[in-house]
Amino acid sequence: MVWLTHLIFLSFLHLFRCDCVLNHQSLEEAWEKQLHKDLMKGYDWSENPNTCNVTEVKIKFLMKSFNLDSDTEIFTMYSIMIVSWTDERLKWNPSDYGGLTESYFFKMEHWVPFVEWISRTDFDFGLYYDECNVENTGYVVCSPRVLVETQCTTKMSNWPYDTQTCTLDFTISEYQKDVHLIPKGKRAVSMGGAGYGPEFTIVDYHQVSNTSDKVQLRMTFVLDRNGEHLASVIVFPAILLSILTASSIILDVSDRKRLLMILFSMLCHCFYLSEMGWEIPKHSVEPPTILLFYRSSMLLTMFLVFATVILGKLRNKETAPPAWVSSVYSIVLNSHGKYFIWPRWKTNIELLTSEDDDVKSVEVWNGFANIVNSVCFFFSVIVYSIMIPMCVPKQQPFT
Ligand SMILES: *[C@@H]1O[C@H](CO)[C@@H](O)[C@H](O)[C@H]1NC(C)=O
Ligand SMILES: *[C@@H]1O[C@H](CO)[C@@H](O)[C@H](O)[C@H]1NC(C)=O
Repeated sequence: MVWLTHLIFLSFLHLFRCDCVLNHQSLEEAWEKQLHKDLMKGYDWSENPNTCNVTEVKIKFLMKSFNLDSDTEIFTMYSIMIVSWTDERLKWNPSDYGGLTESYFFKMEHWVPFVEWISRTDFDFGLYYDECNVENTGYVVCSPRVLVETQCTTKMSNWPYDTQTCTLDFTISEYQKDVHLIPKGKRAVSMGGAGYGPEFTIVDYHQVSNTSDKVQLRMTFVLDRNGEHLASVIVFPAILLSILTASSIILDVSDRKRLLMILFSMLCHCFYLSEMGWEIPKHSVEPPTILLFYRSSMLLTMFLVFATVILGKLRNKETAPPAWVSSVYSIVLNSHGKYFIWPRWKTNIELLTSEDDDVKSVEVWNGFANIVNSVCFFFSVIVYSIMIPMCVPKQQPFT
């Protein structure tokens, strides 16, 4: 019997408690309902909060992520936009509404600022305020999630260490007069860790705020590409290939290794150029200079392949050389020019026969090939020492 009494008592208690919670909730809801009804009485949402005065709207973006697509040149920022203002018509006395000091408005019942961004892309995004918090002082805060996109002209000459500048322009719709967009705090954007993207890092930010201008708030982002990975597969090989090409010229033209080495360099050029085709951004005002470097270096290597084959033939020639070859030979060897002939090849001994004429011809041809090779060598060294500082991108100092 005792347990039955207990059970009945417990269920009563349960009922009572439930009732109490329900009552409490419905009471607050009732006050809130009454408040919304009273506030919206005669409220014209199309009129500015402060009919005679300018309405100041504070704006702040909490950046969640960003992206700059190098191919489409579109900069995207995904963030929470916090806008706040004071609406004199949304004031109330908390004691009149059961001590209620704040309330949520879930639909756009009251006035909201129409924040617009200029230079937007085809992708049109209508701003939708799903929820706003209103305090009894008339202070309204809305925090919609927004995805802002803008066209950003990219300059790729220093790719993969390029730096890009993207600008986002904000203003208030022309349908709302006398509304000023003002950044909340010193900066209108708070990035936190979101400034470190997978492809780019935001290294600098500045903003211009001028409420009398067409663009009320201009935010400029400076982005550095995280190019280390690309550099290791594209930039460092460029340096190695130029050393490989230039050092192959030091070898003797009769040495088979020289031709193999320079052909290998040629193949590597082709390989890296095709590799770069996958990685390189397609649409850009300025093409990457590293591309020019590879192309010029490939032309030079191609020229050196021909030079190697031709010089190899000339070096072993036994016929009497034409007069101009002999004169080039004697002019260079009888002047200071002979110190620039490096490396110096010895005449092939097997070719030498007893006849004096033959000995002389082989020596002249060998010397002539040697002179041409030295010219090729110094030419390549000069070309590379100009091209490497000019065309190979360097990492910008981090600011
Ligand atoms: C407009 O602003 C002035 C000073 O800032 C203030 O005295 C006045 O009451 C405001 N008027 C309205 C209608 O809010
Ligand atoms: C703000 O914009 C107006 C209109 O374009 C211009 O006349 C004024 O000089 C600007 N003010 C500043 C501080 O840039």
